[in-house]
Amino acid sequence: MQNWGKHLRRILAISFLAIQLVPVHRENPPVDPAKTIFAAATVPANIHAIVQRSCKDCHSNETRWPWYSKVAPVSWLVANDVKEARHELNFSEWGTYSEKRKDHKLEEICDQVRDGGMPDAKYTWIHRDAKLGQEERSAVCAWTESLRKPGTPEPAQPSAPASTH
Ligand code: HEC
Repeated sequence: MQNWGKHLRRILAISFLAIQLVPVHRENPPVDPAKTIFAAATVPANIHAIVQRSCKDCHSNETRWPWYSKVAPVSWLVANDVKEARHELNFSEWGTYSEKRKDHKLEEICDQVRDGGMPDAKYTWIHRDAKLGQEERSAVCAWTESLRKPGTPEPAQPSAPASTH
């Protein structure tokens, strides 16, 4: 019995070390400040703070990679999440999106945040402070709506209130 335990521990230890050798892509592509959402759209300070606190680790090229993101197998999950998240929505590359795509993403941002789908639960489980309160969710939706109005596909209403710039 004792021998079995020893063997098992040794096998586990070797496997753990071996999987650390699998290469993981964890790089942050360069950021062109002119292309970020902060340059390409009007982002009030409170929304800026929410994005920085709760979204940017996955949805930007400015990911902070904590120590556990460097240890397999967690590193594989984190790297994959960031890859998918950037592919879906990258605040660092917002300026490169078409108007149609921006509009769709703004709609999705409000939907996700309002329904509690984002920030991702795995993330808030570790980063407790990334959770959004009710007021913050409403603020995000008010913001996405304010950006969508001028760009909505329908022709402008003659009596539409002047947008604030
Ligand atoms: C831990 C990483 C992580 C964090 C933090 C995170 N997301 Fe995501 N997000 C993802 C991943 C992965 C996907 C793609 C897969 C999915 O939809 O679950 C995604 C998808 C989305 C989508 C869907 C895009 C589309 O067009 O379908 C939106 C919108 C979104 N996130 C917004 C946000 C916002 C806003 C925040 C911050 C309040 C945030 N996310 C925080 C990982 C994250």
